[in-house]
Amino acid sequence: MYAGKARAYTNIALIKYWGKKDEQLILPMNSSLSLTLDAFYTETTVHFDESYTEDTFCLDGEKQDPKQTAKISNFLDLVRKQQNLSLFAKVDSQNFVPTAAGLASSASGLAALAGACSQALNLQLTETELSRLARRGSGSACRSIFGGFAEWQKGDSDQTSFAQTIPSNNWEDDLAMLFVLVDDGIKDISSRDGMKRTVETSSFYSGWLENVEPDLADAKQAIREKDFTKLGEITEANGLRMHGTTLAAVPPFTYWSPESLNVMQLVRAARKQGLPCYFTMDAGPNVKILVEKKNLTALKNFLADHFSEEKLITAYAGPGITLMPVERSEEL
Ligand code: ADP
Ligand code: DP6
Repeated sequence: MYAGKARAYTNIALIKYWGKKDEQLILPMNSSLSLTLDAFYTETTVHFDESYTEDTFCLDGEKQDPKQTAKISNFLDLVRKQQNLSLFAKVDSQNFVPTAAGLASSASGLAALAGACSQALNLQLTETELSRLARRGSGSACRSIFGGFAEWQKGDSDQTSFAQTIPSNNWEDDLAMLFVLVDDGIKDISSRDGMKRTVETSSFYSGWLENVEPDLADAKQAIREKDFTKLGEITEANGLRMHGTTLAAVPPFTYWSPESLNVMQLVRAARKQGLPCYFTMDAGPNVKILVEKKNLTALKNFLADHFSEEKLITAYAGPGITLMPVERSEEL
């Protein structure tokens, strides 16, 4: 029997990954940049054992259906193939983040699974190798191997597509991200399906690709210069452009709800009052607001008239993946 466990934190992209050029290898159309956060994470334990007759996947204590389990098996197959291993596995995962709500559970979930497999089979992977492996599970997961700011260089092959830390002189420690929970239910269109439909059918997609590399260069410069206004403006503009592409997809769709728009307007109103803060959104209606720690209380006070405390979740920069010992109670 081989057992391993890992904890990985979610990351939110400031420059988004949106579209694949190779769906099998999960090679992205564009490079992206994210901030790993401390408030949301996944812990996953994996056991490989010869007594198992199939793969099983339990999420938050509930056995998952064949479709969800097949996604896990696909990932395990990669590892089994690489290691020449024929054992089935039992995967137990706990999400300390709402699942499939646009809060990046796929990033923390697949990074944790990659880490747990690596630990179980004693793969001794470098961070780069672990990032490549996590990428095969879910693109954004490759960035969750690293704490703080990470850049996923798109590359053009399995070998060259992975994330790495962006040097920042610890500037991320001055920042916060406030999550406004508009809806934490499961979304209708997953990121995977949404980006596929957009690449295949949206006439706005070429506009996205034209802008994203300059956005990335500007965001990296803002991080180097610790220029919050510049990073915020690029983050907000890049997120809006990503969401713009969905409107021209066939059939068109949007991840926004009326409440999301309401939050965006509030962020703009806060800025007008001299409070620097910027929003971004992923494949779901929840809004994330980038703010400097020193202005977090003012932002929360500003939003307090509109949202109850439970709807506002604060996150700070979080650490990279941690491989953990498997506790006795989790053993077979
Ligand atoms: P999100 O915004 O939460 O990342 P996605 O639609 O991108 O939403 O991804 C959600 C999918 O990620 C789930 O349907 C599931 O397949 C996968 N996922 C989420 N959490 C885990 C986990 N802990 N372990 C393995 N896979 C997970
Ligand atoms: C909007 O990484 O969940 O959050 O690679 O198909 O698993 P797959 O997609 P996923 O997509 C994330 C999309 C995004 C932007 C981002 O995180 O960069």
